[in-house]
Amino acid sequence: MEKLTERLLLREFTKQDVDAIAEFRRDPRYLEYYYRPPYTRAECVRFVNECIAWSKKSPRSKFQLAIADRANGVLLGDCGVRTESMERRRGDIGYELSPVYWGQGFASEAVRAILRVGFENLGLDEIEARCVVANKRSVRLLQRLGFAATERIPLGPGRGGFADRMLPERYVFLLDRDQWIERTHVF
Ligand SMILES: CC(C)(COP(=O)(O)OP(=O)(O)OC[C@H]1O[C@@H](n2cnc3c(N)ncnc32)[C@H](O)[C@@H]1OP(=O)(O)O)[C@@H](O)C(=O)NCCC(=O)NCCS
Repeated sequence: MEKLTERLLLREFTKQDVDAIAEFRRDPRYLEYYYRPPYTRAECVRFVNECIAWSKKSPRSKFQLAIADRANGVLLGDCGVRTESMERRRGDIGYELSPVYWGQGFASEAVRAILRVGFENLGLDEIEARCVVANKRSVRLLQRLGFAATERIPLGPGRGGFADRMLPERYVFLLDRDQWIERTHVF
């Protein structure tokens, strides 16, 4: 899968991406809302291998794509849309950029493209995003793209890859297909 946007190329991961991922995943600015020690290189290898494995599955239920600058190929971050159940037609998204590239609209541009993958390629009806209340940049991004906060989860253990740690208050944001279609005509 490849998606071109105005400034970005979203593409599948390769093993050569590990160093760029490891570089920003130890940056304290990046780690501020993850409540964990810096990622080790071995963890980044596992992450990239998992993304590559997902890309080979058929039928495919998980897309986790590298975000590259389409002008020079530099890796800026990554984003993904996943579903645990195609029947339920509900999925979730995640996104992360190297702090070097924050504040330029790159993440919003990439997330718009990954939402299209979720609604069009995966055929989802609803996409969720969980976000720590204090992570204002992420909250602004989700609001900008039309997500609405539907729930506030109090301090407690995370889920999935976050099940090993306590997380502070989080929002559950949702965007459904109709809201997304309405927004895409306004973009
Ligand atoms: C969350 C995260 C991706 C947001 O990055 P970001 O660069 O702030 O997000 P955007 O791409 O939406 O950029 C928006 C900012 O760029 C500015 N901008 C500049 N040029 C722009 C353009 N051409 N188009 C849009 N926005 C532009 C906007 O004004 C906005 O600034 P503001 O937040 O000060 O109002 C980033 O902070 C991150 O990677 N954090 C660590 C991982 C993380 O927390 N992930 C989310 C977990 S829920």
